Amino acid sequence: MVASALQGRRVIVGVGGGIAAYKACELVRELGRAGAQVRVAMTAAAKEFVTPLTFQALSGHPVLTDYFDPSQEGNFGHLDLARWADLYIVVPATADLLARIRAGMGNDAVTTSLLAFRGPVLLAPAMNVAMWDNELTQENVAALSSRPRFHFVGPGAGLLACGDVGAGRLAEVGTIVEAAARLFAEGPLAGRRVLITAGPTREYLDPVRFISNPSTGKMGLALAEAARAMGAQVTVVLGPVGEVARDSYEVVDVVSAEDMAREVLARVDEVDCFIASAAVSDWKPQTREAQKVKKSEGPESLTLVRTPDVLAEASRRVSGQARRPALVGFAAETQRVVEYAREKLARKGLDAIVANDVTVPGAGFGVDTNHVTVLTRDGKQQELSGTKREVARSILELVADYLPR
Ligand code: CTP
Repeated sequence: MVASALQGRRVIVGVGGGIAAYKACELVRELGRAGAQVRVAMTAAAKEFVTPLTFQALSGHPVLTDYFDPSQEGNFGHLDLARWADLYIVVPATADLLARIRAGMGNDAVTTSLLAFRGPVLLAPAMNVAMWDNELTQENVAALSSRPRFHFVGPGAGLLACGDVGAGRLAEVGTIVEAAARLFAEGPLAGRRVLITAGPTREYLDPVRFISNPSTGKMGLALAEAARAMGAQVTVVLGPVGEVARDSYEVVDVVSAEDMAREVLARVDEVDCFIASAAVSDWKPQTREAQKVKKSEGPESLTLVRTPDVLAEASRRVSGQARRPALVGFAAETQRVVEYAREKLARKGLDAIVANDVTVPGAGFGVDTNHVTVLTRDGKQQELSGTKREVARSILELVADYLPR
């Protein structure tokens, strides 16, 4: 369960300044063995115990130690790190770090990246028993525990590095890895199956020419990653977009709208949620020539016919089913965005529609950010903006209300 739950997950290990920092080295290695991608941030105090170079070698990536260092910030700084990750593990979570995290402070590489991170946080405390027992520390632990996003693993009791005996030992590395895996296995979409269409389609008129659009599939793939990070089993039916990571979800490659419809209809009965984010070509050439058409003999005009509406067909197919999946569409508009989107939501029998105005800078095709309005069948309306990954997570949180029981 550990290996499969962590496969392909993006984990930040934030290392605090305590003697247990050396165990964070083993944690980074074990997370990597379980298939996770790991990046490390360190407090200044942590560097007194273990060098950043050690973590760089173990994680295979530069370590964030100083958010004032332009070379670090310019490359993969605290905000990039926060946006990238699915889970943040703090190890060892010292008394000082717990206090600063609880206070919402951001004054080193760990607290700034943690403050900018929106996902689940796993805290692995380690400190002297008196520090742990101190009412201020206990207050901080209680305050953090009361928040759904913060989880604790340990501390264990026993002989501490300082010679004292009692609570304050860092949890065993294996226990921390298991706790991390459990967070994914118990995510809000744990045990759910999510089917997503993404990318453009191509409608060929001869072997070398086709009708298509500039979709890069980024929004759909961000949804796939976010759904996976929330515990779902994900299949993406993907139009031609070039190379994509395939290690944390299933990818079914397709070319045309007809291929996409066939693959979706073969799967939609089995899923809890179908999200149509693909930019499907609405028309295809009436005939597809087997050989390249020479320009000397080519037609002066092209007759087009409609392609199947993948989402509408999927919706028709599942309507009336006892365990009907939640259905989510996208609407890329250039004007009267909400009005057109609401009409599409009703016409295609959807639970939610994600509308974006593709004329807004930083939204739509090819960019990494998005600004969308999500409309739901019961009249709710919510604006979301941020990276496509952040927007994806928020969309899924909204959609979770419409999953079959
Ligand atoms: N869609 C689909 N198959 C198609 C066309 C669209 O699955 N052949 C899906 C898209 O993935 C998206 C939604 O339907 O989720 C978009 O709806 P649609 O009415 O097709 O949008 P437009 O093509 O923008 O339509 P219109 O020209 O009416 O604005």
